[in-house]
Amino acid sequence: MNTLQRRKAHSPELPDMASHTARIDELCAAARILPVIKIEREADILPLADALAAGGLHTLEITLRSDLGLEAIAQLRKLRPDLRIGAGTVLDESMLIEAVAAGAEFIVTPGGTQALLEAGRESPVPLLPGVSSASEIMLGYNLGYRRFKLFPAELAGGVAALKAFRGPFGNVRFCPTGGLNPGNLQQYMQQPNVMCVGGSWMLEDAWIRGGDWQRVTQASREALQLLA
Ligand code: 3PG
Repeated sequence: MNTLQRRKAHSPELPDMASHTARIDELCAAARILPVIKIEREADILPLADALAAGGLHTLEITLRSDLGLEAIAQLRKLRPDLRIGAGTVLDESMLIEAVAAGAEFIVTPGGTQALLEAGRESPVPLLPGVSSASEIMLGYNLGYRRFKLFPAELAGGVAALKAFRGPFGNVRFCPTGGLNPGNLQQYMQQPNVMCVGGSWMLEDAWIRGGDWQRVTQASREALQLLA
C-alpha cells in the first residue's frame, strides 16, 4: 500500500483527485471569469461581492493578501450562499487549513511547493495550483493535478505558452491569470486548454476606494459579454 492508499483506507470520505478535477471544471465552466479580490475594508465585503454578482460574476477568489481575507470568506459563505467563494494567495499548508475552516469552496495558489501540493490532495475542497513552466506542471501532474492557474499569465508567455503546453500536456487545462484585461480576454478564452480566466481588471482600486460599485458591475458585465 502506498501513502495515498493508506490515507484513503483511513479516510475513505476524502475526495480523490479525479473528483477535485471534476469540481474545478464545474466551478470554472459556471464562472468563465474568476475575479481576484483583495479586501481592504470590512465595509467593502458585501457591496463588492454584490457588485460583481450583479455583473454576472458569481464565483469569487478572495485572496488572503489582506487580513480581511478569511473574514470575507466566512461572511460571504454565510450571507451570500448563492455565490461560490474560494480562497486565493494561499501560500502554505496552514493558510490552506485556515481557508477551508473559513468556508472556502476552492483554493487557488500563485505557485506550488511539494508540501502545499500534497496538502491540496488531502483537502476536502479542490486546489488549483499556480504554474508558470513545464517543470511546475510536471510537479503537479505527478501528484495527480490536471488543472492549473497559469500565473503570471502574460509574463509566463501568455497565449503562446498555452499553445505550446498543449503538445506535451494534452489533458491539462488552465485558468490564466495575471495581466488579463478586456483587450486580451477573448484570445485567452479561445484556447482549447483554457477553462476560465482570472484577474482583477474589473476591480480598479479607485472604484473600490470611492465605492463606485456600478463601475465594477459594468466592467464585469462587459467582460462576460466579450466572452459570449
Ligand atoms: C492573481 O493573483 O491572480 C493576480 O494578482 C491577478 O492578476 P491581475 O491583477 O494582473 O489581474
